Amino acid sequence: MTIRKTSRRNFIKVIGLGLAATTLTCSGIGYVATRAPDVETPTFTFGEENTTGYHILVTYATRAGSTAEIATAIGESLSQRGFVVDVRPVKDNPDLAGYQAVLMGSSVRMGNWLPEAITFIENNQSALVQTFIALFTVHLQNVDDDETSRAARLAYLNVIRPLLNGAEEVYFAGVMDFSRLSLLDRSISKMVGGVEADNRDWDKIRSWVPAALAQK
Ligand SMILES: Cc1cc2nc3c(=O)[nH]c(=O)nc-3n(C[C@H](O)[C@H](O)[C@H](O)COP(=O)(O)O)c2cc1C
Repeated sequence: MTIRKTSRRNFIKVIGLGLAATTLTCSGIGYVATRAPDVETPTFTFGEENTTGYHILVTYATRAGSTAEIATAIGESLSQRGFVVDVRPVKDNPDLAGYQAVLMGSSVRMGNWLPEAITFIENNQSALVQTFIALFTVHLQNVDDDETSRAARLAYLNVIRPLLNGAEEVYFAGVMDFSRLSLLDRSISKMVGGVEADNRDWDKIRSWVPAALAQK
C-alpha cells in the first residue's frame, strides 16, 4: 500500500489545507497551485485482423497518466487475442456506434471515479446498457484482500454501478508520482502519507479479459 492510514491529525491538516486551497483558488496563486503538468492522453488502434468479429473500445479517464498506460496495455493484450481495439480518452467523447464491447476505466480521486468518466456514462447510458461493458478502476488505497478493504474499493463505483446493470468490475493498483501532480494534489497526497510508488501489476493488467470476451 502506498497511502498510509490517515490519522486524525493528518485529517485535520487536510481540512486546513482544503480551506487554504479554497482561499487560494479565489486568487491568482490558486491557479498555479491547481495547475497539473501536461499529461499524455494517447489514442491507439490495435489489431489488424479481427478474427473474433469483435470491435472493442477501451476508453479511459486519467489525471496523471497511469490509467492511460493501463488502458493502452489492455488494448494491446486484447488485440493479441484477435480483437480489434480502439483506445480513446473519455474526454474525446468517443462515439459508441460500431463497438460490440466497451471497456471503460478511470482513476480514483477522493473516493470517486473522475467526473468526466461519470458524465460520459450518464450521457451514454442508454447505448452502454445495450452493449457489453466492463469497468476497470485504478487506485492506490484499499488494495488488500480483507473484507474492509474490499468493501471500501467497491464503494468507488457506488455512483456508477446503478447506471450500468451489473457491469463486470476489476480493480488495478496505480501509481503515485509527485512530478505528475499539481502543487495542491502533491501537498494533499503528502499530507495523507502518500509516498511515490508504481504499484501496477502488469501481469494482472495484461491478463485481464472480461468474462464475456473470454468465450470469443
Ligand atoms: C489527489 C489524489 C487523490 C487520490 N484519491 C484516492 C482515493 O480516494 N482512493 C484511492 O484508492 N486512490 C486515490 N488516489 C490514488 C490514485 O487513484 C492513483 O494515483 C492513480 O494511479 C492515479 O491515476 P492517474 O495517473 O490515471 O490519474 C489519489 C491520488 C491523488 C493524487
